[in-house]
Amino acid sequence: MAAAEISSNAGVPQDGARPLHVAVVMDGNGRWAKQRGLPRPLGHRAGVEALRRTVSAAPKLGIGWLTVFGFSTENWSRPAAEVAELMALPKRYFESDLARLEREGVRVRVIGRREGLSDELVRLLEDAQARTAHNTVFNLNIAFNYGSQTDIADAARRFAEDVAAGRRQPSEMNEAVFAGLLATADSPPPDLIVRPSGEQRLSNFLLWEAAYAELVFQDVLWPDYGQEHLEAALAEFAARDRRYGAIASDDVLAAG
Ligand code: IPE
Ligand code: MG
Repeated sequence: MAAAEISSNAGVPQDGARPLHVAVVMDGNGRWAKQRGLPRPLGHRAGVEALRRTVSAAPKLGIGWLTVFGFSTENWSRPAAEVAELMALPKRYFESDLARLEREGVRVRVIGRREGLSDELVRLLEDAQARTAHNTVFNLNIAFNYGSQTDIADAARRFAEDVAAGRRQPSEMNEAVFAGLLATADSPPPDLIVRPSGEQRLSNFLLWEAAYAELVFQDVLWPDYGQEHLEAALAEFAARDRRYGAIASDDVLAAG
């Protein structure tokens, strides 16, 4: 595979030892800044650099889908100045990277509620999606103003509205139908969810989708994250025994 640019993972065996879809809770920007005596915004800006490194490393490691948690519906409770800084990050990232993502075949999707975002930001996000919608080499989902419980409630409401309007029957509902109503409907479920910074929780990220994801928690702050950390997470993933509720094939005989 080409080393310097984003290249397709087509041909990389998806043998279960390698995740097709990796999701990342980008965490630890504030602590990173604090450790250096810097204001928090500088931690967030360094976090954008880490995103850049991770997006370029992922396809080289055979990953086809990367979903990153950029701003949660709960992050609105931070001080206004910090919220403003976080709201400015998509522009910072796309100004420097969107042309390259577009050129290198990355399809960008932004999942999360548009309500609450400025018109300018919504236009920016929609433009990034539209400009890259035809791309097929690699998929980057950015969760922004996203909360999984909100997404699930929105999906339930939409289905209920369809039932009330006579467009659907309650009996049509099943796991696949429900998954198709979520913001992640176009994406395969995450195989691996990574959270740096030492925190060990999902924080309302991909709750439905995470049903059989492997979780890896890493003691590195997000602004320091890069290819070596992603490789370490993949190594941990490869060592896991994913059984999806069944038992290991070696144990089937023993089970009688
Ligand atoms: C991640 O870093 C950025 C967002 C949550 C948007 P934090 O800002 O949560 O950093 P810590 O947890 O305070 O270190
Ligand atoms: Mg945090």
